[in-house]
Amino acid sequence: MCGIVGYVGREQAAPILLEGLSKLEYRGYDSAGIVVRDGEKKAEVIKAKGKLENLSEKTNNGLDIKGKCGIGHTRWATHGEPSELNAHPHVSDDMNVVAVHNGIIENYQELKDKLIRKGYEFYSQTDTEILTKLVDYYYKKYKVGPIDAIAKTMVRVRGTYAIAVMFKDYPNEIYVARKDSPLILGITDGDCYLASDVPAILKHTRNVYYIDNLEMARMHDGQIDFYNLDGDIVPKDTVEIKWDAEAAEKGGYEHFMMKEIHEQPRIITETFNSVYKNGKIDLSEIGLTDDIIKNISKVTIVACGSAYHVGMVAQYVIEDLVRVPVRVELASEFRYRSPILSEDDYVILISQSGETEDTKKAVSEAKAHGAKTLAIVNVVGSSIAREADNVFYTLAGPEISVATTKAYSAQLIAVYAIATEFARVKGKIDEEKYNYYINEILTLPSKIEKIIENKERIQWIANKFSSAKDVFFIGRGIDYAICLEGSLKMKEISYIHSEAYAAGELKHGPIALIEDGILVISCLTQEDLFEKTVSNMVEVKSRGAVLLAVTTYGHYNIEDNSNYVTYIPKTDEHFMASLAVVPMQLMGYYLSVSKGIDVDKPKNLAKSVTVE
Ligand code: G6P
Repeated sequence: MCGIVGYVGREQAAPILLEGLSKLEYRGYDSAGIVVRDGEKKAEVIKAKGKLENLSEKTNNGLDIKGKCGIGHTRWATHGEPSELNAHPHVSDDMNVVAVHNGIIENYQELKDKLIRKGYEFYSQTDTEILTKLVDYYYKKYKVGPIDAIAKTMVRVRGTYAIAVMFKDYPNEIYVARKDSPLILGITDGDCYLASDVPAILKHTRNVYYIDNLEMARMHDGQIDFYNLDGDIVPKDTVEIKWDAEAAEKGGYEHFMMKEIHEQPRIITETFNSVYKNGKIDLSEIGLTDDIIKNISKVTIVACGSAYHVGMVAQYVIEDLVRVPVRVELASEFRYRSPILSEDDYVILISQSGETEDTKKAVSEAKAHGAKTLAIVNVVGSSIAREADNVFYTLAGPEISVATTKAYSAQLIAVYAIATEFARVKGKIDEEKYNYYINEILTLPSKIEKIIENKERIQWIANKFSSAKDVFFIGRGIDYAICLEGSLKMKEISYIHSEAYAAGELKHGPIALIEDGILVISCLTQEDLFEKTVSNMVEVKSRGAVLLAVTTYGHYNIEDNSNYVTYIPKTDEHFMASLAVVPMQLMGYYLSVSKGIDVDKPKNLAKSVTVE
């Protein structure tokens, strides 16, 4: 995780760096720092523990720091506790080299021992200080230029990194290198930018370069040159980012999360329209021809966090519509258990960021077994998108809130489109059914709007439970998959312990925890399973639980068994997750607000998890 930024150009760097970092705070926010150099003068390093605002205050929003070349960092601690000392940038003893880093150096101990033997001393517990001093060591030992010194360092380190480095001898230049950690470089007339993610530079430019693994770049005089490990120039063209700058702003909402919840109807429409042409779903631009689809006989879905919960929904939807076996795996488990895959397997990777380390490794694992891979990814040009055989881009735009909402919803739509089209191609549904499913998908945005219009009721319910300590979510089938996401939303932003259970499993353990006043949220959107789940609700109610039911309009008799009910519109049952998740997102949001939590930046979390 962590976010890095850099700027060299015609303007004062510090305010640009701080502004860029503010867009990357979702990546980590336990400390932050910048370094700025004013021409030949000594570089000035300023760091602060805690959120970025501490650094902004310390520097008078950057106005007190002079210089047109600088780099910055917002940290999610891996090596070393959150502290000012461990915050980046890190420096070599004589300030010859200054660097910021996102990633993890695995052989840091061996490198540290080597450097100690060469007379280096260390002031922090970070792997980045070691990396910085290693660059300094090679720079001085071989008396080479920055590119060669960084290349020698890259060959020596194991792990992942996106680094930005400044050298005392090259005062108006920034050098970068990348392996497996996200990094983009932006350019306008006379100005160069670098950042871990697009929103950090969107205000300044939409023209970016993607730097590949094991490449380096030199930013200077309004231009960026790329190099491979041999030091040879690598020609590259800029790519235009389509996201507009406004998409990364709050737009009048108090929090990004609420803004992103409201964006769901629009981004669902846009994501579906990207594959919906002339009344049909068309996956050919994604590279999925009828022949390829016909040959898919089993599917493995691999993802983390909320994306994994989309996979859980997908398992039910694809198995039911397409009648092929689907297995869903947590990426962190999948990659280490020697999965049994062959050329006959079809592996779908789901990831908002396209940079989640475990999911990224899962793509390589799947490809190494000869399996075909499809990535459902939001960030264009991200590592997973680049590595997978085919990519279905969700068009959610930049998602800033750490707790995902709109990206989750966009991923669901991608899954529905895939399932419906696969079912048609494989002859599992007739044309009438095919058109029916498409029409149902098309109704989802207006139904979500309707749920959001009634958000005050959820707020009212949430306010009653702000002191809850434990919450259970129960459901069956797709409702269970929805509960997994509802429960995650609750715990990650309101810090209330919550668990999602397949309703039928309650009696195998969790029911022992039910006592007076415990909130149990049940999801009932699947007609065949309705009565079964109601029975489970009654079981916990008789043991003192307070019940909140999420179900569709029409099931008014649920009020006999529940303390609170939230009604949502009906749609085809395969697609109910898109609707039922919205009250759960709102519930998590309002609980978080009522507890005074920083909704968009919950503690200990980061949006893009680029460590194992
Ligand atoms: C983090 C985020 C989650 C996200 C998960 C997977 O934990 O906080 O919201 O679902 O990573 O991220 P990805 O970018 O791969 O979807």
